[in-house]
Amino acid sequence: MRAMRIIQPVKEMQDFCDHNRKTGKIISLVPTMGYLHEGHLNLMREGKKRGDCLVVSIYVNPTQFGAGEDFEKYPRDIERDAEMAESVGVDVIFSPASSDMYPEHYQTFVNVETITQNLCGLSRPGHFRGVATVCCKLFNIVKPHVAIFGQKDFQQLAVIRRMVEDLNMDVEILGMPTVREADGLAMSSRNTYLHDKEREAALILSRSLLHAKKLYDDGQRDTAGILKVVTDSLEASPLVRLEYAKICDVVTLKDVTYLGNATVLALAVKVGATRLIDNYVFGDTFDVSC
Ligand code: PAJ
Repeated sequence: MRAMRIIQPVKEMQDFCDHNRKTGKIISLVPTMGYLHEGHLNLMREGKKRGDCLVVSIYVNPTQFGAGEDFEKYPRDIERDAEMAESVGVDVIFSPASSDMYPEHYQTFVNVETITQNLCGLSRPGHFRGVATVCCKLFNIVKPHVAIFGQKDFQQLAVIRRMVEDLNMDVEILGMPTVREADGLAMSSRNTYLHDKEREAALILSRSLLHAKKLYDDGQRDTAGILKVVTDSLEASPLVRLEYAKICDVVTLKDVTYLGNATVLALAVKVGATRLIDNYVFGDTFDVSC
């Protein structure tokens, strides 16, 4: 018998969490779209430490995918996910149906304005509106004391923090470092799309970040100089198509020209048909052997 529960109806999830809150339990939430990997599990381990009741949502949220993106083919395997989640002590998986999350006549969305305009917002219009909306809904359903997100999706984390502060949501947002494969590739459910040659080519992302880190550690503070090195190496790879390489303020996500200690190098590329992102916050450690 499985100790972990899988709950689908929104109302049942709400009742379960209300009951746990009333009995004094601290609820932690890790929102995911499933097809779990070690990056997700690391968030869950932190959630386990932070609360008495760990809820993981698994929901491929249609409103954050644009036309022509990979909503249909996004990998899904709830049985595999359930086993992995249970192995780290998750108490409940919440996997709602879209008909319950966005029923007929649904029309309310959360729009976080300026910081969604740069970086991924440029090429994925509407994406962060979908992310903010589903996270707001998840917070209202689960009412977590703490919600845990990965820094791998740096802009997403900034958007959620902005939303929570702006809308006075009573939830602590915790960001966790990016978990990488041994060769440096940031873990992602989308890595499963990569063929062997593409998987090899994708290493240019973490290598470029590491290169930028070295320049920064050597005292380089001119963003244009660092961006040129990064852009040149990304563009030199025939399988890689650069979408953006930018250095931004970590809070506003506006482009900066001088590297302070609160700046992030954010990259987005397409490797074949697969879109990958990665980032490095200057001054942070970068634990890879690439
Ligand atoms: P998903 O891509 O499944 O990611 C779920 C969470 O895991 C996010 O907070 C993401 O930043 C984090 N994550 C993914 N890869 C990681 C890695 N290599 N290291 C550390 N953390 C990692 O992000 C989403 O789903 C969705 O947009 C969601 C927030 C669930 C809203 O639908």
